[in-house]
Amino acid sequence: MKISSKIFQEEQQKTPYLDALIAYAEGKIVPFHVPGHKQGRGIHPKLKEWIGESYLSLDLTEVPGLDNLSQPKEVLREAMNLAAKAYGADYSYFLVNGSSSGVHSMIMAACNPGDKILVPRNAHKSAFAGLIFSGAVPVYMKPEFDFSLQMDHTITAETLAENLEQHPDSKAVLLVSPTYYGVAADLQKLVQMIHDSGKIALVDEAWGPHFHFHPKLPISAVDAEADLVVNSTHKLLSSLTQTSLLHLKGNRIDRARVESCLRLFTTTSPNCLLLASIDACRMQMATQGETLLGKAISLAETTRAEIRQLSGVQCIGREIVGNPGAADLDPTRVVISLRSLGLTGYEVDDLLRTVGRVQIELSDLFHVVALITISDSEKEVDQLVKGIKQILKMPPQKSKGLLEKKEAKLPDWPPLKLSPREAFVSRHETIPFEKASGKISTELITTYPPGIPAIAPGEEFTKDILDYLWLEQEAGSRITGVADSTLQTVRVVKL
Ligand SMILES: Cc1ncc(COP(=O)(O)O)c(C=O)c1O
Repeated sequence: MKISSKIFQEEQQKTPYLDALIAYAEGKIVPFHVPGHKQGRGIHPKLKEWIGESYLSLDLTEVPGLDNLSQPKEVLREAMNLAAKAYGADYSYFLVNGSSSGVHSMIMAACNPGDKILVPRNAHKSAFAGLIFSGAVPVYMKPEFDFSLQMDHTITAETLAENLEQHPDSKAVLLVSPTYYGVAADLQKLVQMIHDSGKIALVDEAWGPHFHFHPKLPISAVDAEADLVVNSTHKLLSSLTQTSLLHLKGNRIDRARVESCLRLFTTTSPNCLLLASIDACRMQMATQGETLLGKAISLAETTRAEIRQLSGVQCIGREIVGNPGAADLDPTRVVISLRSLGLTGYEVDDLLRTVGRVQIELSDLFHVVALITISDSEKEVDQLVKGIKQILKMPPQKSKGLLEKKEAKLPDWPPLKLSPREAFVSRHETIPFEKASGKISTELITTYPPGIPAIAPGEEFTKDILDYLWLEQEAGSRITGVADSTLQTVRVVKL
């Protein structure tokens, strides 16, 4: 049904789950059930004062009338059906354990232990966790590397074709599109190729929950006919933190298996307020999405144009579209680099916060990424531009000079020696970081965000990776996934 049709619009005005939750709270039924704060009565006043009584009265989990996330049959089923219609999927599932749980479920639903799956190496850490849980054996595909930006984009049709040819026994293909930086793959072509070779197409579209709702945005993975798709509604739309959607389309994947996997990775006490926020967010997108997103897009375009006029500042725009691995670009992502002034992304991040009083989403060695969403107005983006101008006026000695080091580039991906699950469950030894070259990691070491592992379980430490991790440490990035976050030691497979 078309988004513009009258019946669609009338139906999508409904918010069955949000309405049921409000009705329950208004009913003032005396609770002898969880949560223990009993709709706010027992919560410490310091917290209550901040978050308010009405919020707390909605902090419920699965009482009669509010359905059951693990086996939805009533209002939640109705709300999920509306989401599926809004996104053009056959089934949509509400997630309260983040997009991570959706990625885990997709991989586990598609693969049994030992099954081969093609995975872009610049996938989010949740994909590597999915490989450990499922026991699937990855074939890592090399994303296109943009040397001038020092940034990985997506997988090209050529890379996919090569991998499909070399691994005809693979069961599924995971694609990540768009990247954290908003760069999108040629999804229609890639999904068609995956289906033509008889495999299942899984798409981690955590960063594209809005694509379906505006013609100026890249094609959505559901519209490109992918079998399973994850969308982080909490990242770029208006639902509450931790909430996401998993969409299913077609019949290449067993729906009951998907639902079983979701149950494995989901709390048995889902927060009803989180669920209601997905319902409200879906309604907002289906009924006003194009208008709201249109404003966000033009705000981002104006901001980008303004930033690009500043001397010494690089801000990615549509000129990269058409480069390998960059089939399209989400205009609402503003990716900025002050590299030419010798500043790392981490330094720019700090300066923007301390001097400009703005907090950006992501920083890496070279860039910072600002998200412009339906919630922003000129006031906020002006502050961002002002912040950059303030940095430009500062004396140059603010930089630590790290970008002049020869290791200041992204390293080659390390070689895979064992499957992630094999390495994760194998006996390990803890050794000094500088002695790790040639050893196989049992850990997933990543800077967060973006959460793409520099090394994953089963991969071999190389000098390149060690130099890079050392540089990241020096640059002050947040290293996660390791037993020793100071990186003085690492855990490796004991052979
Ligand atoms: C590409 C990608 N997939 C999945 C996730 C996981 O999302 P969540 O934090 O909602 O679990 C992220 C998080 O940043 C991501 O960047």
